Amino acid sequence: MNEVLEAIFRRRAVKVFDPVEISEGIREQMLNAARHAPSSFNSQPYRFYWIETAEERTAVARLCMGQMPAKTASALLVVVADIGSLAATSQGQLEWMRSRSEFSEAKIRDYERTAKIGRILFMNGPFGIFGAIKGGLFWLLNLWKMMGMPPTSRRDLFKWATKSTSLACENLMIAAEALGINTCPMEGFDGRRLSKYLGLSARYHEVVMVIAMGKKSQTYVEPPQWRRPLDATLRIL
Ligand SMILES: Cc1cc2nc3c(=O)[nH]c(=O)nc-3n(C[C@H](O)[C@H](O)[C@H](O)COP(=O)(O)O)c2cc1C
Repeated sequence: MNEVLEAIFRRRAVKVFDPVEISEGIREQMLNAARHAPSSFNSQPYRFYWIETAEERTAVARLCMGQMPAKTASALLVVVADIGSLAATSQGQLEWMRSRSEFSEAKIRDYERTAKIGRILFMNGPFGIFGAIKGGLFWLLNLWKMMGMPPTSRRDLFKWATKSTSLACENLMIAAEALGINTCPMEGFDGRRLSKYLGLSARYHEVVMVIAMGKKSQTYVEPPQWRRPLDATLRIL
């Protein structure tokens, strides 16, 4: 079978790990795979927190309600949706485009304009006032014109960012599997305390997932993997 498919089908959420050394090289490959995932407007709206030392792992595992995958992991990755990174990301892309000969001035100006429109569309203003006005306006326009809806609240923005963040998580887990590292994605954590522990901003950051990593324990008996039948999830039109 194709190697990528093999890693996809072999990956399981492993609940107990034996200790394993995750080298800097492996860590970098996993994180690079994560950030190569597609993201809405290429905005990459996430941050990664790599938790490695025994002391930090113990603290974060406690905030994951002491779950076994967290307690036995050799490293934990806290993946955070970051809605405060948009301006800096588009500025970074703009600088990158300017540093490369393949982008004409017209293309750069085009990107600059699109990024500006994007920032306005994604802005919700103080107390979400602009978001509410925008929501009403787009709702009215949508009555006669086909269009997508921009995020109109902070909740919407986090929902938007969580989609791209989750794709990065999946890329990381598949890469980990291909590199011989087992994983367990977790949403069983105390988000408020974990955010505080990492010094996150409640305004811009939300923990999406914690990924426990290690080597599947020899004592761990993996349950058979069940999935809904394909015809229960698929409709071909
Ligand atoms: C968003 C998400 C949250 C999850 N949270 C937890 C968790 O908190 N603890 C846990 O042990 N497993 C967690 N899992 C793992 C699932 O239980 C697991 O993926 C599912 O049972 C299917 O098993 P498989 O991945 O081995 O096929 C989570 C998975 C996802 C995608």
